[in-house]
Formats: sequence, C-alpha cells, structure tokens
Amino acid sequence: MEDDNKINRLEVKQDKRRMKSKRKTEEHAAFNGVFDSFTLVNLNKILSKGIINEFVGIISAGKEANVYYALGEEDVPLAVKIYKIDPQNTKWMKNYIIGDPRFKKIGTSTHKIIYTWCKKEFKNLTQMKRHDILVPTPLLSRDNILVMEFIGEENGTPAKRLKDIDELVNPIEEMNYILDQISKMYLNAHLVHGDLSEFNILYFKGKQIIIDVSQAVSIYHINAPVYLQRDIKNVLNYFSKFIDSKHVPDVKAVFEKILKNV
Ligand SMILES: Nc1ncnc2c1ncn2[C@@H]1O[C@H](COP(=O)(O)OP(=O)(O)O)[C@@H](O)[C@H]1O
Ligand SMILES: [Mg+2]
Repeated sequence: MEDDNKINRLEVKQDKRRMKSKRKTEEHAAFNGVFDSFTLVNLNKILSKGIINEFVGIISAGKEANVYYALGEEDVPLAVKIYKIDPQNTKWMKNYIIGDPRFKKIGTSTHKIIYTWCKKEFKNLTQMKRHDILVPTPLLSRDNILVMEFIGEENGTPAKRLKDIDELVNPIEEMNYILDQISKMYLNAHLVHGDLSEFNILYFKGKQIIIDVSQAVSIYHINAPVYLQRDIKNVLNYFSKFIDSKHVPDVKAVFEKILKNV
C-alpha cells in the first residue's frame, strides 16, 4: 500500500517534470521569431544561471517591450521585461537619454541604445526604491532584459492597472499619495517619471505601485519641468473622475509647490 503510494507520487512528479520540459520547448518556439538571436542567447544564459527557472506566460505585449510572468529560484514569482531591438523605437528614446547627465556615451547602434534604455529603467527603479518610492524591486538587467519583482496574485494573475479599477475607496487619499510620490521622486530621487498616468500605476492590495520607468529623466534634463507638469496633469485628470473638482488642485499649484521645496 505504502509502496503503491510512493510509486503514484513518483509518477505524478515525473509527469510534472515532463510537462515542464514540454512547456519549455513550446515556450522556446514562441520566443523564436519574436526575439533576435542575441536576446535568445542572453535568455539562455539567464536561464542556465538559474535566475529564471521557467517562463510561465506573457503578461503584456507592447510596442517597445513584452512583459512575461516567470518563476525564479525556489519558484519566486518574477516579471521579465524584454525590450525589442527595433530601430523605430530608438528615435524617440534618444530624447529621454540625451541630456540626462547619467548617460553620456550611448553609441549609435540600435542595440546599444536599447541596452542603455533597459539599463536606465533598472537604474531608475533602483534610485526610486532607495528613496522609498513604491516600485517593483529591480533584480537584474542584462542588455535588453530586465528582471524585477512580480506584482500580483500568487497564482500568477498580475495586479490591475489603476485604469482598470472601477471604484476607489478613498480617491482623495489615493490622489494625494501619488502627488506625494511625484514630489518625493523629484526632491529626493531627483527624477521625473515622464509617462505617469493610470496606465503605469498598478493597484494591488490597496496600494499603488508605479511602473514603466525607463523614460524617467534626471531633474537636470532640459525637458524635466515639461515632463513633470505633464505627469501631474495626467494624474489629476484621472483622479478628477472620482473627486469633486473643488478638491482637485491646480496643475500649476502642485508644480510650483514641488519646485519651491528644491
Ligand atoms: N512588475 C510587474 N508585475 C506585474 N505586472 C507588470 C509588472 N511590470 C509590468 N507589468 C504589466 O505589464 C504591462 C506593461 O508593462 P510596462 O512596464 O508598462 O511596459 P509598456 O507600457 O512600455 O509596454 C503593465 O501595464 C502591467 O500590466
Ligand atoms: Mg506602460
């Protein structure tokens, strides 16, 4: 009886392993054709080092990058963002790199610019995290691959974006929280997000987590004030759907309050 159970358990285990390896092969087929050979080689290196154990599924397919849900060491959930090596994207990306004193030599090839972009997202996440801004913890960046903390349920369901939330329990509080994050980002981390809106804020377990920070620039970038005003405007526009206008501050007033504290 006991032996039978043991055999059953073993078979289940082997089946799972077989499924896993089948899935890995299928995933590989899915990656082929989407990513260039450099990305595939790098993915294999990251996989062989055991940083990523298994790709489970795709969370988002965007113009610049795809985001995957993966499992790392000891099956810890990960989000893996892989930037596409596409020359179409480098034109506008340059505007957010050139003029940022942290990135002086960026090269001219598509590869180099995309690698810098990916490293920039990693650096920005690190800098924000260090100054207590709630972002996914960055874990690794290698060329065009960024590995970070997965925000979502244990079963792999990613957190919703603020855009997909129908109701906010305390919208004034939520708005003030994000305005405070913008202010801390500027005054403490010395960064401006540059693409902040309900699309790039996740809502999970009552908390708002800012994501998609690759374009974030140093406050010394020539366009930093313009980007800062745009971020404030987007956020206020979104929250004004839930809040009586008399409680929504003016864009200029928020902007000036931040700059007054420099
Ligand atoms: N760390 C993460 N955890 C869970 N989901 C994420 C994470 N990062 C990104 N996502 C999901 O992937 C989507 C795309 O990621 P994002 O960084 O905004 O890239 P882009 O908008 O440039 O395609 C997000 O809207 C979000 O749904
Ligand atoms: Mg985004």
